[in-house]
Amino acid sequence: MAMEQRVALTGFMGVGKSSVARHLANFLRCKRIDLDFFTEESEGRKIAAIIDDEGLDRYREIETQNLERLLEGTDARILSLGGGTWTIAANRDLLRAHGYTTIWLESTFEHCWLNITHSRKDRPLARDKQKARQLFEERQKLYCLADWHFIVRKGYSSYDLARQIVDQVFA
Ligand code: S3P
Repeated sequence: MAMEQRVALTGFMGVGKSSVARHLANFLRCKRIDLDFFTEESEGRKIAAIIDDEGLDRYREIETQNLERLLEGTDARILSLGGGTWTIAANRDLLRAHGYTTIWLESTFEHCWLNITHSRKDRPLARDKQKARQLFEERQKLYCLADWHFIVRKGYSSYDLARQIVDQVFA
């Protein structure tokens, strides 16, 4: 892949998309942007508040609008998506149309769940473990559609993983 390529990180909640993105941007000395952060800034509300107040379907519309706005206005080469962004066909089309290569960070549900329970981020879709596990299982086939696939192993830091991505994807 050429050095100027842009990548978007996808994967389940708690897998570590944002921290891998941070390390990638440091290694590559380039700009990164987080879609959830962008959406919260532009909507003036937390994602959890949007989902709780307006429902998931409306949130997905808002997310797609923000993804489009972000892709049209940014020169960031590293983008971390929300855990559900890539599961929506319109979002996959937008990312491809803007030339982003997508990387799926995969881990076990238990690994993600551990991170979710240790994080301060309020995730409405991960308030119940059984429901979150079901969502995790349903989404595997969609995450699989990403261009690249990296496995987040136990004991592997996000720094190590970012290094591995640089070596393989940006080689
Ligand atoms: C979601 C994941 C969250 C956030 C929203 C919905 C999902 O982002 O976009 O709560 O559908 O998996 P993280 O994956 O960064 O937690």
